[in-house]
Amino acid sequence: MAIRDIITAPDPRLKQRCKPVDKVDAEIVQLMDDMLETMYLAPGVGLAAPQVGVTKRVIVVDVSKDEDNRNPHQMANPELVWTSDEMLDYEEGCLSLPDHYAEVTRPAKIRVRYLDRENEIRELEADGLLAVCIQHEMDHLEGVLFVDHISKIKRDLILRKLTKLKKQLAKEKARGKSRSRQTVSAVSTGT
Ligand code: NI
Repeated sequence: MAIRDIITAPDPRLKQRCKPVDKVDAEIVQLMDDMLETMYLAPGVGLAAPQVGVTKRVIVVDVSKDEDNRNPHQMANPELVWTSDEMLDYEEGCLSLPDHYAEVTRPAKIRVRYLDRENEIRELEADGLLAVCIQHEMDHLEGVLFVDHISKIKRDLILRKLTKLKKQLAKEKARGKSRSRQTVSAVSTGT
């Protein structure tokens, strides 16, 4: 397994519709395992393939939040076959929108059909945080972020802050690099 880089918004790669998986083969299983490891490290409770730059319909979810008692779900081509009329408001976050949260309303209970890591068709019924999380990750496969469910004013505010943060990090990185270059040249002129 390997850790992959998580893309943060705003980024055009997070706004694309992902392609279905033909078959869950070794490459997809590798992707699922890498995504799970990346999610646990972050730490997070869900991750979708486009967040690691892969435009395929693959998601991983684990809401157990207990390192000793993990309960991961790895899904390819997830589709909702039933949703409850009952709705649930939940304060959502996203690894691609670090440190920002907003309340989103979604169906409280769902049934999802998907391909598991053995390429078998499975169905899972979920409610509570698991239902929220699966729907959130499935949104990513359509290029939809949780901020697309809230008001434009709030969304623009969050995306503006993230853009600013990205620029700041890029600047710091560039400064860090030039500093180490200066150190190297100082050492080489010293000798
Ligand atoms: Ni997310």
